[in-house]
Amino acid sequence: MRILLRVNGISHSVDVEPDETLLEVLRRLGYKSVKYGCGTGECGACTVLLDGKSVKSCILFAWQADGREIITVEGLSGPGGLHPIQEAFIEAGAVQCGYCIPGFIMEVAYLLSLNPNPSEEEIRKFLEGNLCRCGGYQKIIEAVKLASRKMGHA
Ligand code: FES
Repeated sequence: MRILLRVNGISHSVDVEPDETLLEVLRRLGYKSVKYGCGTGECGACTVLLDGKSVKSCILFAWQADGREIITVEGLSGPGGLHPIQEAFIEAGAVQCGYCIPGFIMEVAYLLSLNPNPSEEEIRKFLEGNLCRCGGYQKIIEAVKLASRKMGHA
């Protein structure tokens, strides 16, 4: 079937199989920040924004995103450079092996859109669905607080 995916403001008319996941199709289109971790919705490595809300793209069929707006981490930075959330992850030393980070960043983008100044407890609760195997959650929490300050909310 042919569907229309709008990714980071670019429209892609793409043929997909009925059982192909959104994750598979995004990677096929070249959005390699979207990572395969567990494939079962448990780890968050494949998180993207769909119509502004974070979703695990490994447990959605691509056709479910037909005509909808997708943002990946490639779409966060603009002509002015990195997004403040990306800057904060770098400055806080929250990027370790890096595999889980695009998913974390998209989840944080969703969190800060809902709650621009979350408490540490709220950050931890919100990020429960994103796993980091390097284990450095504290720096990730610091990065979220820094991102909130950079975006003028704390
Ligand atoms: Fe999608 Fe793990 S790969 S949640």
